[in-house]
Amino acid sequence: MTKNVKLLIVAGARPNFMKVAPIIQAIAGFNQQLRGNDTVMEYRLVHTGQHYDAKMSDVFFRELGIPAPDVSLEVGSGSHAQQTANVMTRFEPVCEREKPDWILVVGDVNPSMACTLVGVKMGIKVAHVEAGLRSFDRTMPEEINRLVTDSIADLLLTPSVDGDEHLKSEGVSQDRIRLVGNIMIDSLVANLAKARESKLISELNLKPGGFVYVTLHRPSNVDHRESLRTIMSKFESLGVHFPVVFPMHPRTRKMLAEFGITHHEKGNVRIIEPVGYHDSLSLTENARFVLTDSGGLQEETTYFRTPCLTLRPNTERPVTITLGSNKLTSVERLDADIANVLAREPKFGTIPPLWDGKTAGRVLQSILEKS
Ligand code: UD1
Repeated sequence: MTKNVKLLIVAGARPNFMKVAPIIQAIAGFNQQLRGNDTVMEYRLVHTGQHYDAKMSDVFFRELGIPAPDVSLEVGSGSHAQQTANVMTRFEPVCEREKPDWILVVGDVNPSMACTLVGVKMGIKVAHVEAGLRSFDRTMPEEINRLVTDSIADLLLTPSVDGDEHLKSEGVSQDRIRLVGNIMIDSLVANLAKARESKLISELNLKPGGFVYVTLHRPSNVDHRESLRTIMSKFESLGVHFPVVFPMHPRTRKMLAEFGITHHEKGNVRIIEPVGYHDSLSLTENARFVLTDSGGLQEETTYFRTPCLTLRPNTERPVTITLGSNKLTSVERLDADIANVLAREPKFGTIPPLWDGKTAGRVLQSILEKS
């Protein structure tokens, strides 16, 4: 007898797409290996539409070979309450219709929490990929999403041992936890050859190892006028000495306009539109260092062993500091931290265990064991 296990896979925002792509590919691979009365895995992809611009969404589907979503909830932008509520009310009928065995959510964005709440209350099992991360900073919306999701989801799939330790210290039983490794690295490894074909660096007249890759979008950095103004002027002075590439997130662009902060293509600071996945990997591999407040870039720089300065007071990814090439920084410490980075070797750190490109297989195996 063949058994069917049906998953509803949820993706909504840019950092979700590179996390669901390897899982979808692994499902196709799993079904191709079927023999006799094995299990068949079935899935539907739900795009909640939190990110909708072509440069924030479509380009990732294309580059990562993700099939078009089966369901688009089209929630768009809004306050946290609006986004969460809209995802919940639009996702519930999808669950009623599709009757999945599992809902699979990734990361810490609003749709991951919203769909977990819907699923658990409907008695559908929920698996959370990238569980257990904690910044211990409850002013971060993502920290609330992580805490809520992990406290109610059925299966918590962690990227590194610190995740397991956080969950256990919160009273989660070992039975709900599986250490599977870092799913982002599956996509990185699978796309490395294509990333190395990127022409962006030469189009920008940059040399490998001779520029800084900057990204910035956290509300704590960009939603306050003075903080954003100070950070932008820091980048401008950095650009006097070093070419800076800054693909600007729509949130940052919106806040600059709202605050009336003018940003010039001064010196060597190149402010460009958000870049696709392959171009971003290429910038990360080839930068002299990366300056960011992104979670994903802390992990990708660790894999490439490219120095990373994270403009945040904390990180939910401490392994990128203890093993990898990441360091927390602040506007006050930035000049000294940059001087230190430039004084040391261009690549350093080690890749954490299970960041090996094979996490998606372990995710499926864990779900099947619990099905
Ligand atoms: C969201 C995630 C954050 C993640 C980030 C990656 C939450 C709570 N936050 O933050 O964890 O690091 O995505 O990008 O889920 N906008 C556009 N086009 C788009 C999408 C957004 O112009 O396609 C603009 C809108 O003005 C919107 C603003 O960007 O109001 C912020 O978007 P939103 O999805 O609310 O939050 P992010 O800052 O992107």
